[in-house]
Amino acid sequence: MMTIDSGNDAFADFRAGFPALRSQTYLSICDKMILHDDVRASVDVFLDHLAMASAVRTDHEVRVASAREKFARLMNVAPETIAATRNVSDGTNSIAWAMPWKEGDNVVLTSDAEHPNNVYPWLRLRERGVQVRVVAADAEGAVDADAMISAMNSRTRVVAAASATFAPGHRTDLRKLGEAAERSDVLLLVDGVQTAGIFRHDLSAEPVGAFATSTSKGLLGLYGFGFLYVSPKWIDRLHPAYLSRSSVLQKTDDHSTMGGFDWEYQPDSRRFEVGSYNLAGAYAADASLDRLLALGGDAIEARVLRLASMFHEGVSALGLKPAVPGSGPRQSHILTLGELDAGGHGFSSDPVIEPLSAFLKQRRIAHTIRRGQMRFGLHAYNDETDIDAAVGALRDGLQSLRAQA
Ligand SMILES: Cc1ncc(COP(=O)(O)O)c(C=O)c1O
Repeated sequence: MMTIDSGNDAFADFRAGFPALRSQTYLSICDKMILHDDVRASVDVFLDHLAMASAVRTDHEVRVASAREKFARLMNVAPETIAATRNVSDGTNSIAWAMPWKEGDNVVLTSDAEHPNNVYPWLRLRERGVQVRVVAADAEGAVDADAMISAMNSRTRVVAAASATFAPGHRTDLRKLGEAAERSDVLLLVDGVQTAGIFRHDLSAEPVGAFATSTSKGLLGLYGFGFLYVSPKWIDRLHPAYLSRSSVLQKTDDHSTMGGFDWEYQPDSRRFEVGSYNLAGAYAADASLDRLLALGGDAIEARVLRLASMFHEGVSALGLKPAVPGSGPRQSHILTLGELDAGGHGFSSDPVIEPLSAFLKQRRIAHTIRRGQMRFGLHAYNDETDIDAAVGALRDGLQSLRAQA
């Protein structure tokens, strides 16, 4: 067997910190995070402070600033471009309501490739006279960057796309979309939750207007905490729908001081921060980002892509056809099997997918069924033993199904 990890102690050490990996093969990061011991310990520090009333809010908020700075480093941008938010929906809705729309303007998106949380925020704008231009996914079910560009016109203000779709899982050509958007003064809004922490994003070089994510997947934090990057090129044109003390420029750190009725927005992405933070989420992200930064974005991406190719090869050798390619720019950490939309969330009408899924569950191979497809997702804690376990279980599962037929 080819070994990709020999001598790679940093990844082995990282893997050893996840209790979940001692009792299962976890191939479901596209569904949700698992917690590293450091992350849990960081949240425990917060809970201990709450239990003992041993810290004040501003002590905790140091962790928000720290998490913001670390996420900014991971994305290669200045910390001021990052707002601490709750989740993807918070970020997409923030942009949707901050854009100075005029009746007849439009937004371009691909509803049949997007998670609903990157569709509903735009549909709601119809009430304000904004046209929602829905482009079909391509024949593979991926975001069709060329078709989206063709759908843009002089009234387009926003083009919205996932960095990788939640199913079937292709990565999107953000550069192509972003360059076209930039040429036409259109904001590219990226739902980045599937790739943040797994694939390298350099937002100072990529033509992305805004990038919304939560920490509940590849960033390995908690639910209900996330980040919104907004490019400095856009910030002055975006006026948030919600306002609270944190969104407004302040002269003092006193949380209850207003400083008069004349106010100005924060000059940067903090204008999108509203009220108290999810502090437990900030403590978690502060610790998980340490781990991700220590491994390095490039090394994580390279490892995940190598494992994904190995998985693709193993699965293809069984006669199964992954829906996402095993190499090239569309390859991702997600591998899906079965026919797209032959079912939904947790169920499939494909005669093979559900029994195979039940077989894998018995073997404790964590995965999900989404849009009727069996879905797996990889991260830096995975190694080749996980790929062998999954491919072996799929092989045995198929044999057992054939024996029953
Ligand atoms: C592509 C994508 N966007 C958004 C979400 C979730 O959105 P939110 O963070 O608002 O709950 C998911 C969750 O599965 C997702 O896969």
